[in-house]
Amino acid sequence: MWYFVVALVVVVTLIWQMTDLKARVVDLIARNLREPKGLVGHLVRIILGKGNASLENETVKHLNIQPDHKVLEIGFGPGIGLNAALEKVEHSSGKVYGIDISEQIVESAQRRFKEAIKRGKLEIRLGSAMELPYEDDLFNSVFHTNCYYFWPSLEQGISEMKRVLKPGGIMLTGLFYDALLTSTRKGFLKYGPNWRPELYIEKLKEGGFVDVAMETVTKPSGHTGHSYQVIFASKP
Ligand SMILES: C[S@@+](CC[C@H](N)C(=O)[O-])C[C@H]1O[C@@H](n2cnc3c(N)ncnc32)[C@H](O)[C@@H]1O
Repeated sequence: MWYFVVALVVVVTLIWQMTDLKARVVDLIARNLREPKGLVGHLVRIILGKGNASLENETVKHLNIQPDHKVLEIGFGPGIGLNAALEKVEHSSGKVYGIDISEQIVESAQRRFKEAIKRGKLEIRLGSAMELPYEDDLFNSVFHTNCYYFWPSLEQGISEMKRVLKPGGIMLTGLFYDALLTSTRKGFLKYGPNWRPELYIEKLKEGGFVDVAMETVTKPSGHTGHSYQVIFASKP
């Protein structure tokens, strides 16, 4: 029996190396991290929903959302952050908005949050951070986790966030720096070349945001072995 197992491992290893299967799998995952689509997109959404749930929840906690706030999440993926933000505004006049570039992600959120959408507490849109379909000075806060890496232009995304935020409104990004370094090394951020937090921080300052800072939070986040980072910025 073990001869068979060893032979199988050898054959799979050979195929893996000869056909460049590994590179293709990495490429497929990298594409679906930028824009979940099809079967792999569904799998990526499920995995993100487990792996990044604590990050999304912690990021929302840092926003200090008040019951009457209007809050936008960009690139909401599985919708964990939308759900956490909704809980904060549930019993008042506040409202949550979500925008994502992936049709599959948007359809999935529309199903999951059918009730909240019907009650007018949540608005989901298909669209890009490059051109936010919202009026000026609308939101008290805008947040995203694991998203800016994929924006075609950081400058444009930052300018759009600043436009839709109210004066004094805050922008918050959550990330796992260690996981970012590993993902980059393994090729999973092939389609997210702008992942460096330092670059994002620099662009936020150039884009007119103030009080820009990155903080590492080491209290238990529920994500085994990880501290996480939050980048804060305010619109003057
Ligand atoms: C890696 S996933 C992260 C999802 C979730 N926020 C998390 O941390 O698990 C990136 C998400 O951003 C979305 N996205 C990528 N580029 C975008 C863009 N230009 N505008 C809006 N959403 C975008 C993708 O469709 C995807 O849902």
